Amino acid sequence: MELDQIYAPVREDLNLVRETIRSLGKDADYEWLARQLVHITQGMGKAIRPALTLLTGRTFKYDMGYHLPAAVSVELMHTATLVHDDVIDKAPTRRGRATINSLWGDELAILMGDYLFAKAGEFVAETRHPRVIKLFSQTLATISRGEIIQFRFAYNPDQTRDDYFRRIYGKTGSLFSLSTQAGAILGQASEEGISIMRDYGDNLGIAFQIVDDILDFTSTPEALGKPAGSDLVQGTLTLPAMLLLERYPDNNPVRLFFETRDKEYATQAIQMVLNSGVIDECYRVAREFRDRACRGLSTLPGLPSRKSLLDLAEFVVNQKA
Ligand code: IPE
Ligand code: IPE
Ligand code: MG
Ligand code: MG
Repeated sequence: MELDQIYAPVREDLNLVRETIRSLGKDADYEWLARQLVHITQGMGKAIRPALTLLTGRTFKYDMGYHLPAAVSVELMHTATLVHDDVIDKAPTRRGRATINSLWGDELAILMGDYLFAKAGEFVAETRHPRVIKLFSQTLATISRGEIIQFRFAYNPDQTRDDYFRRIYGKTGSLFSLSTQAGAILGQASEEGISIMRDYGDNLGIAFQIVDDILDFTSTPEALGKPAGSDLVQGTLTLPAMLLLERYPDNNPVRLFFETRDKEYATQAIQMVLNSGVIDECYRVAREFRDRACRGLSTLPGLPSRKSLLDLAEFVVNQKA
């Protein structure tokens, strides 16, 4: 199923989210800044996080006065993390366009990211809900911690699967979780409802990042609109490489690459990942997290938005090269 179809119960409101984000450029009073904002925000991606907030809201008590600023806020936080992530990863493209760092340098990209974080904060404050605002701040800390750990453990081949799951929960799962929990809290869900949506967000975010890490091996820059094949080269140990290490402990090219930084080993490792069946195994792990994500949803009202949350989970684990 296509995203457009999955988003149907919130289509108009999601368009409003997109418009609100695009209008950041219009509202900026400094012309150069406005142009950069337009550059960043026009290449809007899949909009999964704001869709999660709105679909969750629809599953409980929907109020656009609160759900709209929350949805705008999570997408802006996401965009800010991408602008900073592209500096760290030295990425030339994002969403099929040149990155801010490649156009204007790292310094400006850092400042633009900060600007977007601040705007995200402004929007979340509009929910006037202390619990959501606190969760927003905690999530930002969790994402930063995830990225810090990833940076500190670069080129370390001795990380466990649990290390990996914790790290990707931090950098990706936590924001999916904020998106769904904000939708539930602002929708006046019961504590049980909030907890079901937290579990859904946590686990779907982990599944999402596993698939992103698979696609980094299997896809192309043209299909992704961002670089491919870069995680390993940058020393980020993701699930495909980790499974290769588990399966072939002797003379493993991942380990040899991390030890020597000789790119020949990286090329070998990528070929081995593609030819060894570990990709299928990674998809299987992603589907396990998809199942965990969806487990609680059956107790929620059988609305079209709940069906969309289930379809979205399916979409996430079915993304192919
Ligand atoms: C990219 O997220 C960053 C990761 C967490 C892997 P998305 O794939 O949701 O990015 P956009 O918003 O669609 O561009
Ligand atoms: C996601 O990790 C980054 C953040 C959550 C900030 P990646 O580095 O894998 O994201 P992409 O692949 O560049 O989109
Ligand atoms: Mg990156
Ligand atoms: Mg990636």
